[in-house]
Amino acid sequence: MTTLSVVGVGYLGAVHAASMASLGHTVIGVDVDERKLEDLAAARAPFFEPGLPELLERTQDSARLSFTSDASVVAPATVHFVCVGTPQSADGLHADLSHVDAAVDSILPHIGPGHLVVGKSTVPVGTAERLAGRVRATGAELAWNPEFLREGKAVQDTLTPDRLVYGVPDGAAGERAAQQLDEVYRSVLDLGTTRIIADYPTAELVKTAANSFLATKISFINAMAELCETAGGDVTVLADAIGIDDRIGRKFLNAGLGFGGGCLPKDIRAFIARADDLGAGEAVSFLKEIDAINLRRRDRMADLAVEVCGGDVDGVHVTVLGAAFKPDSDDTRDSPALAVAAALRDRGAIVTVTDPEAIENASRREPDLTFEPDLTTALRGAGLVLLLTEWTQYRELDPHSVADLVDRPRILDGRNVLDPARWRGAGWTYRALGRP
Ligand code: UGA
Repeated sequence: MTTLSVVGVGYLGAVHAASMASLGHTVIGVDVDERKLEDLAAARAPFFEPGLPELLERTQDSARLSFTSDASVVAPATVHFVCVGTPQSADGLHADLSHVDAAVDSILPHIGPGHLVVGKSTVPVGTAERLAGRVRATGAELAWNPEFLREGKAVQDTLTPDRLVYGVPDGAAGERAAQQLDEVYRSVLDLGTTRIIADYPTAELVKTAANSFLATKISFINAMAELCETAGGDVTVLADAIGIDDRIGRKFLNAGLGFGGGCLPKDIRAFIARADDLGAGEAVSFLKEIDAINLRRRDRMADLAVEVCGGDVDGVHVTVLGAAFKPDSDDTRDSPALAVAAALRDRGAIVTVTDPEAIENASRREPDLTFEPDLTTALRGAGLVLLLTEWTQYRELDPHSVADLVDRPRILDGRNVLDPARWRGAGWTYRALGRP
């Protein structure tokens, strides 16, 4: 077993640290955020992620997992994972790499020959090459090992990933780095997980390309939804029909309000910016269209609400079901649901937003919206209901009982998860994106 450090214990780092400790490694988590460290040290997950609290509790009991703000404590570790965030920069499309640079700088004085620094953060191609010189000056080596975890399934994706990608240098140094990573991931590899060895730029691009492809798939089906809306088709039937072809596949063809979160939107924008820097902007210029199609869904949803209310939402009591960017998450970064709620408020609607987990984060992001944690209270007296994040409890709502709560039975299904016949049968006006 290896002693590891994990620098940055936010979403990716906290899950990675706890998962690696569960595999038997000794893990030292480092962060600058004392509150986060306090939570994690007490085995409390600082964000909602199914399975993480249980994992933290188990690994804390084994005393293999510790957290600190003192980077010098990483010295006994030989493998150091860099797991900090790379958000969109405040002044443009590029990724902000300041946290990555600071994380690497913080451990440089404490590493040396035989140590391996492993980047897991999503970075623009070329970052690993840029950092490698600094790392090698200490005698240590650098590898890039992108993470593919999904929020809501993060623990599962870390412990049983689809693949492990190692970006390593050529020659003996690369072989040694791969061996060190193999030791860390031994039990994951023993499950038969595919391991792909690549150079730095390929490893970095694998992550960016994967997220770009997923975003493209979603925007493709949402573009078809736009056509269905004008031509009178049903995008859900279309998705089922094309998805049966296993060259296409049905996953990530759910049309609706589109993608949000801390990854897909900023990753495709950073890719556009980086490709431009490299003089290859044309190769990914289609991603601008992918972004535009995605953002158009939010406008269309707000327009549909206005249309259903007879041309004006001013003074209408609107209940929005969902604030998180997707179910099983409390993350509201670039949340389509929250964007639509704010747009309707701006058009004069009296908006109440409910969500089982994300209200705290949402109210920090949109303090002027009204939030109601109790679903029944949120629905009472509504003149229009919008389902914008497909939490199970919203998918399973009974149209008859909800009809008794609201003022007017009108519902917009922003995620195409309700049965239109059932809701219409219970007296509701039902509308959705991309369906008649
Ligand atoms: C995404 C990728 O799926 C992960 O593989 C990747 O590791 C991660 O980003 C990352 O870069 O860290 P995540 O942001 O957690 O994961 O969420 P997804 O499950 O990909 O969903 C993204 C958005 O697309 C959500 O808003 C979801 O509602 C939307 N979506 C998804 C659709 O609108 N339609 C679909 O068919 C699927």
